[in-house]
Amino acid sequence: MERTLYTLTQPVFLIGFMGAGKTTMARRLARECGLICADTDRCMERKYGMSAKELYEQAGEEGFRQMEAETLEEFVQGEPRIIACGGGIVMGERSREIIRTCGFAVYVHVTADESAERISNHDSRPFFHSMESVRSVNQVRVPLYEELADVTVDSSSRTSGRMAYEVKDILVKEGILCPVRK
Ligand code: S3P
Repeated sequence: MERTLYTLTQPVFLIGFMGAGKTTMARRLARECGLICADTDRCMERKYGMSAKELYEQAGEEGFRQMEAETLEEFVQGEPRIIACGGGIVMGERSREIIRTCGFAVYVHVTADESAERISNHDSRPFFHSMESVRSVNQVRVPLYEELADVTVDSSSRTSGRMAYEVKDILVKEGILCPVRK
């Protein structure tokens, strides 16, 4: 059976805390719909030749947020795509501005405790040295995710594959994801 291909009318940002499943969802959606996907962390890792956590530690919070904003700027200049954003991207003012003005933001909600359960290697992320730290970082960010969200989806007890289908339906209804006419 022939599958339907889609096109995006504007960039779609997947935002939310670490472990929400943004990267997997972006890949699934892109594969399912024939779209381009991009990931701020993976892009920066390729560009600078180190892991996102190493980059964060070397550049510091401010430097890292600046690199994220530059990466987002590049992404929104090209063909509209599904963009998986690093969990802390909302801490950068420039990135918030880009998300607010250049596309549609999907907040993939996950609690701090679920996030800690899902991330198998806590050493791979900053802030995971204690649960208090994870909870307090999440608490600061939740209002920022909420403020930017055009729509919120709840990832509790759902696989990233299922979430990708849910987001696909939302984007079609919003007129952002459109079937390509043959
Ligand atoms: C970070 C989240 C990570 C990555 C970096 C910092 C954060 O992205 O950008 O380690 O500050 O929350 P994921 O949300 O993809 O894990």
